[in-house]
Amino acid sequence: MKPGNTAKAAHAKAVREMFSGIALRYDLLNHLLSLNIDKRWRKIVADHMRDILERPDALVLDVACGTGDLTLELRRGAKAVVIGTDFCRPMLAVAQQKEAEMEVPYIEADALCLPFGDGTFDALSIAFGLRNLADVRGGLSELLRVLKPSGRLFILEFSNPVVPGFRQLFNLYFSRILPFIGGIVSGSRGAYEYLPDSVSRFPTQRELAAMMESVGFVNAGFRNLTGGIAALHSGSKK
Ligand SMILES: C[S@@+](CC[C@H](N)C(=O)[O-])C[C@H]1O[C@@H](n2cnc3c(N)ncnc32)[C@H](O)[C@@H]1O
Repeated sequence: MKPGNTAKAAHAKAVREMFSGIALRYDLLNHLLSLNIDKRWRKIVADHMRDILERPDALVLDVACGTGDLTLELRRGAKAVVIGTDFCRPMLAVAQQKEAEMEVPYIEADALCLPFGDGTFDALSIAFGLRNLADVRGGLSELLRVLKPSGRLFILEFSNPVVPGFRQLFNLYFSRILPFIGGIVSGSRGAYEYLPDSVSRFPTQRELAAMMESVGFVNAGFRNLTGGIAALHSGSKK
């Protein structure tokens, strides 16, 4: 294995182990630490995808779906087939226990090497997942590969608060208070120190839009959510 690939494999292993360790507390902490704002963000993603979700012929994949909160939000009322995929089995096990009547298929797979043919999906979503990939650009290319021509990608991710003053306040919360509470409730302070750390290394709103275009997406753009704490990016395949 090349040295770069060894580092990527080690990163993927560490991320998978980290999410395995917090899977049972993941939802509780998401809602607690975001004061439930995460639920509103997922609804906004579903609203942006509504026209595709209402098509009975459409196939939609929620990548790095974790415990399935976005997958289920997309599935609710949808006529499209919605599938969830993640490479962490304990996260998927939590997803599978939720709202079983919705019969969402969950598939264990690595987002960097999806087990689907080229041009399979009408739309893809990835929420708080892209940042965790060992290779963000490689992940975007893989997502582009499995999209149909004119298919759309929606990325929900933590981003950069744009309002001065609020930004400093939020950064204090995110880098100091959140790891403290997250550590106590989950028993894994490391996972909640990794969160602000990984966000600080992730591309800004504009950089991510540019990266999407550089791998081949067209019409890449974004909308800031809650003053830029998060951002919803979207782009299309030609
Ligand atoms: C922060 S959670 C987000 C889960 C869910 N999308 C949500 O909105 O709550 C990140 C998820 O990305 C998954 N993940 C990270 N790297 C991955 C990869 N290479 N392939 C598939 N899933 C991955 C993790 O297992 C974890 O479930």
